[in-house]
Amino acid sequence: MIELSQLTKVYGEDVVAVDQLSLAVGQGEVYGLLGPNGAGKTTTLRMILGLLQPTSGEATILGCRVSTDPLRMKQLIGLVSASAGLYQWLTPRELLQYFAIGFGLSLEQAFQRTRELAEVMELERFLDRRCATLSTGQAQRVNLARALVHDPPVVLLDEPTRGLDVVGAKIVFDYVQLLRQSNKAIIVCTHQLEEAERFCDRFGLLYRGKLRYEGTLAELRASTGQPSLVDIFLKLLRDDGSGNGSSNIDSAKEAVLAQ
Ligand SMILES: Nc1ncnc2c1ncn2[C@@H]1O[C@H](COP(=O)(O)OP(=O)(O)O)[C@@H](O)[C@H]1O
Ligand SMILES: [Mg+2]
Repeated sequence: MIELSQLTKVYGEDVVAVDQLSLAVGQGEVYGLLGPNGAGKTTTLRMILGLLQPTSGEATILGCRVSTDPLRMKQLIGLVSASAGLYQWLTPRELLQYFAIGFGLSLEQAFQRTRELAEVMELERFLDRRCATLSTGQAQRVNLARALVHDPPVVLLDEPTRGLDVVGAKIVFDYVQLLRQSNKAIIVCTHQLEEAERFCDRFGLLYRGKLRYEGTLAELRASTGQPSLVDIFLKLLRDDGSGNGSSNIDSAKEAVLAQ
């Protein structure tokens, strides 16, 4: 459903943030796009969304090309980003209706969709309270629900568990299960390798903009001889370190292990 073909972004003259990235994600599949800070994850998502123009290459969803139909592309995608906030003076009901209408639903459809999401995401108890008064977990549920108001076939999650405690991470985990059951195509970008290992079906290991390994955990274990994603990344850094200074490797290690 999602296809990236040789997607590349060069910032300025020489910062190659994403380098010829090709991958495909099918319906009902959770693809973990993993890598340390600066690997190129957010840049990739921004290009898929049409918020950033690729230097070269193409992203398509269901045959829709971001380069020629960026508006349609946004209709096909729900985005969950750790940095998104809620409108504090609106209630969750108003907020979901507002976004639904923004995506082109009729009033009637917006009301219906809000009721459905309130049930699925368990928002009913606080649906008519101002967002400012919600607990962190409640606000998070509203934020996750918001990404689905237009019932997109694709959901992209950028560091969805950043800054969350165990309860918050569990809400995200359950949400991803729900998306999988609804047959969405899902990309989760994260540097939380241990968490990703538990809830993704397949992984792409991005390092310095390049896809260095791809496969299921079993395939990655077989091809690298390493037991876990953290070990695979540490091996990657070691292999990469032959020509570089060791301080560079140490800082990259810290990035990988910053869980
Ligand atoms: N607007 C920008 N201008 C220049 N360089 C950028 C910009 N945004 C990101 N970068 C660089 O691109 C690389 C990838 O960044 P990013 O996609 O944010 O990585 P990640 O999300 O994996 O942490 C980094 O080296 C980062 O410094
Ligand atoms: Mg990022």
